[in-house]
Amino acid sequence: MTADELKKQVAEAALRYVEPRLERDTVLGIGTGSTVNHFIAALGDLRDNIDAAVSSSEESSRRLKELGISVIDLNTAGSVDFYVDGADEANRHLQLIKGGGGALTREKIIAAVAKEFICIADESKLVPVLGKFPLPVEVIPMARSHVARKISSMGGVPVWRDGFVTDNGNHILDIHKLDLLDPRTMEAQLDQVAGVVCNGLFVRRAADRLLLAGAQGVRTLLPGA
Ligand code: 5RP
Repeated sequence: MTADELKKQVAEAALRYVEPRLERDTVLGIGTGSTVNHFIAALGDLRDNIDAAVSSSEESSRRLKELGISVIDLNTAGSVDFYVDGADEANRHLQLIKGGGGALTREKIIAAVAKEFICIADESKLVPVLGKFPLPVEVIPMARSHVARKISSMGGVPVWRDGFVTDNGNHILDIHKLDLLDPRTMEAQLDQVAGVVCNGLFVRRAADRLLLAGAQGVRTLLPGA
């Protein structure tokens, strides 16, 4: 099975999990990326059962609207029942690295609000220790060099994602070689650097359910299991 087929398979499994739990006023949170794009495509059949969606990117909003799904502002939504999103890396504690698609800030906000965060990925994203995937950090443009120097002093090697501007008008630094043996502390430390908007570690708010697609099908990981 190709990587894309696995992504489609896990997205469909997420839909099977969510569908029987939908109620008249359910608000769905929708992430960003190629795995979530399969989820959005499958969601089209359920458009009449969904009250509204909040989305973590302009691209996902566009895809949802194309299918006739109402996309509302998070301030209007108030609460989000399920948040479905992909990841660049996940460990067995359901802690994640996200932001490969550059949507990490809105993703972290929706994850914080969501009652249940369902992460969907193919098996290759499961790692014993986070950090092989360069950690995305969204920065205010004028602070880019300052943040890069601070992160270098913390042992990381920052690389500017040149030419990329986030939906919030900011820049991304991808941090290589950062020691993430204690990802909770690193998430908090990075948040302290002036000019950092958000970092791609999802540890304070990890996923509640991780669906992983592999050659044997889709399996579910829960925290503490
Ligand atoms: C976007 C993300 C994505 O969830 C992450 O990059 C995974 O993407 P894909 O499903 O394309 O592998 O965090 O900011």
